[in-house]
Amino acid sequence: MNIRLFKPSVGEKELNKIKEAFDREWLGLGPLVSEFEEKWSNYIGCEMSIGVNSATAALHLALKAFHFEKGKKVLVPAITFTSTANVVLYNDLVPVFVDVDPATTVMNLNDLKNKIDADCVAVIPVHNGGFPVPMDDLMEIAQQNDLKVIEDCAHCAGGSYKGKKLGTWGHIGCFSFEEKKCMTTGDGGMICSNDVNLIEPLKPYRWVGIDKDTWKRVQIAEGTQENEAMHWHYEISVLGYKYNMNDVMAAIGLVQLEKLDQMNERRRKTITRYIDGIKEIPEISLYLPYTNNGNEAYWFFAIRIEDRDNLIIYLKSQGIATGVHFYPLTMQPLYEKYDINCNVANTIWKEFLTLPSHADLIEEEIDYVIDHLKTFYRNK
Ligand SMILES: Cc1ncc(COP(=O)(O)O)c(C=O)c1O
Repeated sequence: MNIRLFKPSVGEKELNKIKEAFDREWLGLGPLVSEFEEKWSNYIGCEMSIGVNSATAALHLALKAFHFEKGKKVLVPAITFTSTANVVLYNDLVPVFVDVDPATTVMNLNDLKNKIDADCVAVIPVHNGGFPVPMDDLMEIAQQNDLKVIEDCAHCAGGSYKGKKLGTWGHIGCFSFEEKKCMTTGDGGMICSNDVNLIEPLKPYRWVGIDKDTWKRVQIAEGTQENEAMHWHYEISVLGYKYNMNDVMAAIGLVQLEKLDQMNERRRKTITRYIDGIKEIPEISLYLPYTNNGNEAYWFFAIRIEDRDNLIIYLKSQGIATGVHFYPLTMQPLYEKYDINCNVANTIWKEFLTLPSHADLIEEEIDYVIDHLKTFYRNK
């Protein structure tokens, strides 16, 4: 066996949709991006979505939307992928690391309250592994302290909290469609909001600052009089980035979106099978309190164990890939100087181990992993 940790679940349907872009001979930012943005907005229930080439780009621009004064502070969890904090630095702002809840791995709201000061302007909650930050409580804290909220939904496309889709609780939600995530466009991301006035101005920022994308200009050209020569005209008023999604990515995304609920359901079933299979191994506890109510979007399944390195080596020898999500940012050289009392994060990560849980994993493979976990602990 050779079981991958993550794998995109893609096939004929995605290929056929890509062919549509090829047949149109339009591969860049075009009509399929617009279609995907609209369908994504309908799916999560928001007013506007803007397709970009990663969640990193989405988070970068989301923070930009507020025009915060240089040097202001943004609260981020200590356990997350580096992009969550990188985008704070990209915007000339200062990250304030919030410790995590030991049981759930997401931002600890008591520590959040403790760390807020007059310079804090925003908070980026991360639904780590797909576990929702209690957004009702977080929004209340944010409101009381005049903080803008950008949800980092890189791990939870399709997931809900209290019946409302994640990514629609905060002022802006950012999603990742990188190849390993709940759904993919190869690489890709989405900026979403109910506040159109807030995010619409981000459109030129994803297109090197140009106020009309090329597809729009072609349409204008087709709709103008023969003697009209100015259809090429565009304006650059902001310093933008080359962050746009393109039609090949959107083609994949449109098909993946149709499969998303089903892929999330498959991951929930996999997790339920894992939990049932390992419940009699006392050395193993769960990474977070997984549930299966039909509305969760868990990106990965992980466990906590003491003897992690030996288990990693053993599983590797049996063809089973594993990972660690995440080594706290507060322990990375770039970010150590921002570490103020993130003792829980700096301790609990040592026990984290992520197991294969992608949507195409079959029961035989899950049972193979469970059997090897049993063998490892039986022979210890
Ligand atoms: C929490 C979190 N935020 C942001 C990102 C960045 O996503 P992308 O690779 O789409 O830029 C990731 C990627 O894994 C992530 O885990």
